[in-house]
Order: sequence, then C-alpha cells, then structure tokens
Amino acid sequence: MNCCVAGLQWGDEGKGKVVDILAEKSDIVVRYGGGANAGHTVIIDDNRFALHLMPSGAVRPGTVCVIANGVVVDPGVLLEEIDGLAEKGISMEGRLLISENAHVVLDYHKREDRLREESLGKHKIGTTARGIGPCYADKVGRCYAVRMADLRNPAALREKLEDIVAYKNKLFAALYNAAPMDAGEIFETCCRWSEALSGHIVNTTEYLFSALDAKKNILFEGAQGALLDLDHGTFPYVTSSNASTLGLGPGCGVSATAVDVFLGVVKAYTTRVGAGPFPTEQDNEIGQWIRDRGHEYGTTTGRPRRCGWFDAVAVRFTARLGGIHQIAMMHLDTLAGLKELKICRTYRIDGKETTFFPGDAGRLSRAECVYETVAGWSEDLTRIERYADLPDAVKTYVAMVERLVGVPVTLLGVGPKRTQIIYRD
Ligand code: GDP
Ligand code: IMO
Ligand code: MG
Repeated sequence: MNCCVAGLQWGDEGKGKVVDILAEKSDIVVRYGGGANAGHTVIIDDNRFALHLMPSGAVRPGTVCVIANGVVVDPGVLLEEIDGLAEKGISMEGRLLISENAHVVLDYHKREDRLREESLGKHKIGTTARGIGPCYADKVGRCYAVRMADLRNPAALREKLEDIVAYKNKLFAALYNAAPMDAGEIFETCCRWSEALSGHIVNTTEYLFSALDAKKNILFEGAQGALLDLDHGTFPYVTSSNASTLGLGPGCGVSATAVDVFLGVVKAYTTRVGAGPFPTEQDNEIGQWIRDRGHEYGTTTGRPRRCGWFDAVAVRFTARLGGIHQIAMMHLDTLAGLKELKICRTYRIDGKETTFFPGDAGRLSRAECVYETVAGWSEDLTRIERYADLPDAVKTYVAMVERLVGVPVTLLGVGPKRTQIIYRD
C-alpha cells in the first residue's frame, strides 16, 4: 500500500512521528519537497532525532530513503544528519538515494535569505534562513541553478560557479552593499560534498517507477503544511514550494493515482512560526499555556511557535485541497487541563459569514472567528492505548472536528513517543 502523509496546518503538526510509525510497514520513504527548513521529530525511547532533510523513515534500518527532485538539498546539513544517525548506530550506507535533479542550496542562498529578510524590516516573512526561497527562485529562473548531478562533474561545476558567483556578487553589492564571495571557496565545499555523496546520486524517478512496478510499499513524506503552500497558502507568508500534497507529482514524478491513502496530520490546536495571518491565534495566556504544555518551540530555529485554537475552516480547505482520506490528530494530551476548548467553525469577514478559507492574506487577516465551544478534559491521556478508554470529552472534541472538517480522524496522538498513538479501527 502507498500512503502520503502531509501537514494540513502551518507545519510542525507531528508528521515526523506519524511517518516513523507508518515506516514500520514501508519499504521506501520519500521526501518530495521543501528543504532544511523542515524539522521532523522522531522520539524512540530516550533518543530524539530532529531530521531536516533525511526522510523520517531513516530511523528504521530496513527502509530505503529517497530525497526526490522537488527537495532543495543543503548537502552540509544532510551530511551532518548522516553522521548524527551513524553516531546512534544507524547507517545510511546503501539505502539513501538522492535525485540527480534535486537543486543544491549553496552558501549564497542562505546569505541572500538573511540579507533580504533584514532589508524587509517589518514586512519580513520570518523565514527559517535556510536559503529555501533563493534556491527555489534560482530553480525557476534556470540560468543560475546547481543540481545534485552537477556535483558529479567538478570541472563543469567550477566554471558554472565562477559565473554564478560573479552574478551574485554584483547583485548583493548593489542591493545590500555586501562584501564579495569567493567562487573558489564555494567550489572547494562542493568538492567535499561530491566525494561524500556522489554514490547516492541517482535518477530517483526511475527508481520509484521500478518500485511501483514491484509493488513495494511506499510512504511519501510531506514537509511543511498546506497553509504554507506557495500557490494555495497564505501568500506571501508561505514557503517557496507546493507544501500540500499537490507537490507530490512535481516533487517526485509519482502520480497521485499511485497513492492509496492520503493521510493529513493536524495538531488538536494550531501553531504557526513566522509572520502572517492566523485567525484563531491566542496571543494571550491561553496561547502561552499551550506553548508551555506542548513545548511549542521550532525544531529548526528554536523560535517560540504562535499558538491558537483548532481552525476547522482552514483544515476543511486543506483537506479538500490535498484529497485527504484520513486525519491523524496529534497533541490531544497537550490540551488536558483546559476547562473549555474552542473550534473555529466559520469566519466573519467584512460583515459576511463564510465557510471558505480566503486565498488572500489581507482578507484572512480581517477574519473574525465564529467558534463552537466544547468541554475540555483534565485526565492524563499519555498512557491510554485504546480509543474506547479515552474520556468522553475527547471523543466529543474529535467528533466535532470530524463533523466540521468532513474527514474521519483515524489516528490520535497522546504523547511525543512512537508508542503514544491510538489507532481507531
Ligand atoms: P513535524 O514538522 O510535523 O514533523 O513536527 P515537529 O517535529 O516539528 O513538531 C511536532 C512536535 O510535537 C515534536 O516535538 C514531537 O515530538 C511532538 N509530538 C508529536 N506528536 C505528539 C503528541 O501526540 N503529543 C505530544 N505531546 N507531542 C507530540
Ligand atoms: P515542517 O516540515 C513550520 C515557515 C517559516 C516561515 C515560512 C517561510 O517542520 O513542518 P522558509 O524558510 O521556508 O522560506 O520560511 O515558512 N516554515 C515552517 N514552519 N514548519 C516547517 O516545516 C516550516 N518550513 C517553513 O517559519 O514562516
Ligand atoms: Mg517541524
């Protein structure tokens, strides 16, 4: 069976944990978009893994990990992850495949990301500063792009880098008065990456087509969340790729028709890192309470995450967008202790009630939320293993989400560990 796991909010829904659980029955796990802006946490006993580029299936030694063409790869980060896994006794030898068509994030991308954000002042996006936007921009622009395949041909790469760095130096000097960069240094770094990674660089589309023909079980791991999708999210406060399941086809060459189940991941509340509208945000003691209980600080940047109530208008939209069949709802344990819980049912925008998520950040920022209020629960959920044993208030909360979103919740997270998951039927 092939399954695609994707976030339905603004990222950090708990995809890493869900992918790790499902990877037990998968032969291959594929990352198809985003880059080292992602931070996917997997906790096994006392070991905590925060993976940025490596598919979360990496922690399952029998699994093949594919980094497909839609990912923007920072080889420095990837090599650190390979080393970090090796230190914990997990080898990627012979089971990591990187697309030759994946684009490479270079130092100048990260520099541009930082310089641009600084120059934007109060209009900044609040990016992760991982060079994601500039790298995807070079990909779309075509003329100044470096792909993983280029690492296999140092002579041609040297020439290419001379041209690119000369261009970037002119640009950065004019726009940001920045000091010039040295193409030779960047090339040296690329040579080290080439030595370490060349053996992993292949045509991953060909590999995945063969795997589909051989009826392998493939798990596709989305990064970010659908509300950060470049085309359908809260533009311009989004990432630079199609972070919803719509990124699957372009990101790895596999059609959605090859996927049996699209599984959307949500938190039982909502979080967001970086700038942009967030209608259900609780910038108050409730938000702080959720942040403290849920340890809501970014996996990649350590920034405090903004916290708020569950937004059924947003998730109904992203579930539809992603063709989602089932939902995994994480962090139900975190909400224990709140007397009442709210779920946003509709928005009121410019005096009119709407159930449709607006495609425009300006309109969204004027949305007032119309809430359903339900009773909370005080019981500790972290040791519960069966749906039947959950308090009635949890079941009512989940049923309300299902009714408003229109998709069944089949997995329930009751703690950060691999084992703290409840399967419903
Ligand atoms: P991802 O980017 O979607 O993979 O999510 P992150 O790893 O960035 O953030 C999710 C955080 O929630 C991580 O610290 C996880 O360990 C944690 N987590 C996942 N599921 C649960 C859950 O059901 N309960 C609790 N308390 N923590 C969870
Ligand atoms: P995972 O996969 C949460 C957000 C950033 C910023 C915006 C643009 O862990 O869910 P970028 O660096 O991509 O140009 O930043 O997108 N962002 C994420 N927020 N989780 C993520 O990934 C994110 N990846 C990017 O905070 O607001
Ligand atoms: Mg994350």
